[in-house]
Amino acid sequence: MSEVLATRLCGSELCSPLVLASGILGVTASSLYNVARHGAGAVTTKSFSLEERLGHKSPTIVSFGVGLVNAVGLSNPGWSAAVAEIQAYQQRCTTPIIASVFGRTVAEFAAVAEHAACVKPALIEVNVSCPNVASEFGTPFEADMNALGTITRAVKQAAQDVPVAIKLSPNYGFLERAAKTVADAGADAITAINTVGPGMVIDVNVRQPVLSNRAGGVSGPAILPIAVRAVFEIFRATRLPIIGTGGVSTADDALQMVLAGATAVAIGSAVYHRGLGVFAEVNAGLVTYLAQHGIASLAELRGAAHDA
Ligand SMILES: Cc1cc2nc3c(=O)[nH]c(=O)nc-3n(C[C@H](O)[C@H](O)[C@H](O)COP(=O)(O)O)c2cc1C
Repeated sequence: MSEVLATRLCGSELCSPLVLASGILGVTASSLYNVARHGAGAVTTKSFSLEERLGHKSPTIVSFGVGLVNAVGLSNPGWSAAVAEIQAYQQRCTTPIIASVFGRTVAEFAAVAEHAACVKPALIEVNVSCPNVASEFGTPFEADMNALGTITRAVKQAAQDVPVAIKLSPNYGFLERAAKTVADAGADAITAINTVGPGMVIDVNVRQPVLSNRAGGVSGPAILPIAVRAVFEIFRATRLPIIGTGGVSTADDALQMVLAGATAVAIGSAVYHRGLGVFAEVNAGLVTYLAQHGIASLAELRGAAHDA
């Protein structure tokens, strides 16, 4: 990997700024290891909870041409199995791993974070923004500034010396307030954005929504401009490191995230339509861009779109 891509994120050294987004390839050590081998600088597990969750019935994902709509419903094997997979991954691979966690209550968020912290992931990412499970979990915690601050503080305490990133979405219209709230509560980083919506795709032949849950979170190229704007606003509001996420599938997309203020850039849906080769392609495109413009490191471009 080219040194110009070396990225420092909350104390971890990444060989590339590219991160596998949460929920794309589960929690299994072997599949996360395979992503690292393909050029990701860090990998994020599927979000896991205290108890195992089966999630929603199929169909849970539908493609609509410029993205995906998913309502997987946070299916996961529970903290114990997930943490065992993280350990198995760490025995095989030094590429940093990010543990994504969620809960139904503040106490659950803290408890699952405490379990995750025991295996010292590079970061604990806190999913307070999944739009697919409102019927079971109520409105996502990110919509309530008090809850957001309380969860951030509780997870920070439970995580001890493991840094904590809070994952936000633009779905409630007060992203800057949410970013400031988590920054004030001690978050070390922000991941932005989760899926947008919810959205819906209707099968015109069946005349019914495709997803069993009817609606789901929108991801992929369709949401890139929303994600870039979100990163821009969060950078201006907090200056916390940001894992820019949403719609990235090319080097140009990743550069937009960095120029908006992202320290690292996550790739999710593009793995489904482009395969794992997308990591090497985007890394190569970034190296070419830096060489063509005589820039020594990607960090020099971070937030450059704010100058003027
Ligand atoms: C099938 C699928 C499952 C996802 N599961 C999770 C999850 O468990 N936790 C989470 O924080 N985000 C989850 N996400 C959201 C992604 O991590 C990412 O924030 C979002 O898809 C935007 O990035 P993208 O456009 O590159 O996919 C999921 C996305 C998809 C498409």
